[in-house]
Amino acid sequence: MNGDRSFKFVLGIALAAAAVACSGGGGSAGGASADGKKLFVAKGCTACHVAPGIPEAVGTIGPSLAGVASRPTIAGGKLQTSAENVKTWLKDPPAVKSDTQMPKLQISDAEIEALTQLMLSFK
Ligand code: HEC
Repeated sequence: MNGDRSFKFVLGIALAAAAVACSGGGGSAGGASADGKKLFVAKGCTACHVAPGIPEAVGTIGPSLAGVASRPTIAGGKLQTSAENVKTWLKDPPAVKSDTQMPKLQISDAEIEALTQLMLSFK
């Protein structure tokens, strides 16, 4: 009787710990790129770009973003590919390349950060 109760007690703690571990894991490592993917869809990037792992992304006005992190430059050669330059680009594309078809989008600095992490994951 006693043994049975303490077994259930231990099992309960183990389950609670597992639940905490799961939610914590999802929020840290995978979090940035998961948010990036959501933003990529929500901000309409999908209308102009193909992107790996995002089925909604079927646009062909802009270049495919598959492998963008491995290309030496972005924006038609205007910028070297780096985290800083991807942010500069996303902040205000026409400021970098006046004749680009990519518009300045309504995205916050935090959203730019998450989207930049996503772009850099496209190796
Ligand atoms: C109206 C179409 C359009 C939308 C919407 C758009 N883009 Fe673009 N994007 C382009 C075009 C066109 C280029 C090519 C830049 C150039 O050379 O003019 C580009 C270039 C880029 C590049 C650089 C890649 C390269 O190889 O030059 C990145 C990164 C990028 N876009 C990300 C995004 C993200 C993230 C969003 C959403 C927040 C977005 N784009 C929304 C049209 C668009």
